Amino acid sequence: MKKETRLVEAGRRREWTGGVVNPPVYHASTVIFDTVADMQNAIRNRAKGSLYYGRRGTPTHFALQDAMCELEGGAGCALYPSGLAAVTGAMLSFLESGDHVLMVDGAYEPTRTFCDTILKRMGVETTYYDPLVGAGISDLIRDTTKIVFVESPCSLTMEVQDIPAIAKAAHARDAIVMLDNTWGTPLFFKPFEHGVDVSIQAATKYIVGHSDAMLGTATANEKCWVQLREMSLQLGYCAGPDDVYLGLRGLRTMGLRLKQHQENALEVANWLKDRPEVDHVRHPALESCPGHEFWKRDFLGSCGLFSFVMKDGYRESALTPMLDNMELFKMGFSWGGYESLILPAHGLDKNRTAVSWQAPGPLVRLHVGLENPKDLITDLEKGFARIGK
Ligand SMILES: Cc1ncc(COP(=O)(O)O)c(C=O)c1O
Repeated sequence: MKKETRLVEAGRRREWTGGVVNPPVYHASTVIFDTVADMQNAIRNRAKGSLYYGRRGTPTHFALQDAMCELEGGAGCALYPSGLAAVTGAMLSFLESGDHVLMVDGAYEPTRTFCDTILKRMGVETTYYDPLVGAGISDLIRDTTKIVFVESPCSLTMEVQDIPAIAKAAHARDAIVMLDNTWGTPLFFKPFEHGVDVSIQAATKYIVGHSDAMLGTATANEKCWVQLREMSLQLGYCAGPDDVYLGLRGLRTMGLRLKQHQENALEVANWLKDRPEVDHVRHPALESCPGHEFWKRDFLGSCGLFSFVMKDGYRESALTPMLDNMELFKMGFSWGGYESLILPAHGLDKNRTAVSWQAPGPLVRLHVGLENPKDLITDLEKGFARIGK
């Protein structure tokens, strides 16, 4: 089946939907068994999608888990109450004291913080590595390296990684490759075809797609699924049924939305690259983005998120009159909803430790939404006119 058809069909088993188009939203903790035999049967099959106890999932959850495996691949999918919980929960599922993690230098900032605080306290050491290291990662792998974590493209700075080369080196030393695939979505990057073992989605972004729920997923291959599933159950992770439902509903239109995000973002990015204020645009589909060649080789599309770097002479504070008065590009965290967002990147120099961050001017991140791109360009044009030096 083609991806558009899969998006419509995925996870809609009659057992989960009961015959209506969408699965009901089960609000459940206790599940009642009529007989001892029923209860024992549920215990035996609790890892196989039987209704056992709310925390272990209901047909609402099972439908999204099925759909994610169908769309992203993998042997199973664990759900989490946020994207960050999916990152930390997936990592905790495999780590123990004495282990070593290789973390990409451009990881989402709270992922770094987790490594620098909770993992450190657990006795897990983290080494940050150059996002463009490629096969050179093998020089950094130790006997104790348990996870090589990739996020491609990186948060804010957007470097695209050579995931197949990194995965090959990691597997040669028995390390697990974990990916934050939120930018790639289940449609634009196929993690398990490129050597990834566990793929994480902040479903809060394009899967939910309307900025109205928090949700995370982690899909895993056969090698990692049972451990990921058991550990996430033991840690007590569960996602709220309303949010899971919104994730499922979002999936159905994600293909269409992404098509438009892609088109709009490319129009805005191409306009930005010719602006006199802009040094370069970091959009994976443009040659000016570090690692563009890996995007071209491995990805099936691009979404609405990218950044640009201002020219020398523009200080961060000069952006304030632009940002304070934008009409359509709103300032706010997160991305992946239907609306456009703008975010100045503060403190990048502190959050890049393997490779120091060097740029002539400040970096601005955009999420290009579903508005007409001509209106978005007008908004940016007026914003640039407000900038002083
Ligand atoms: C790349 C990436 N991963 C993970 C997350 C965390 O997701 P959530 O906000 O759902 O916790 C974010 C959020 O911005 C993100 O951008």
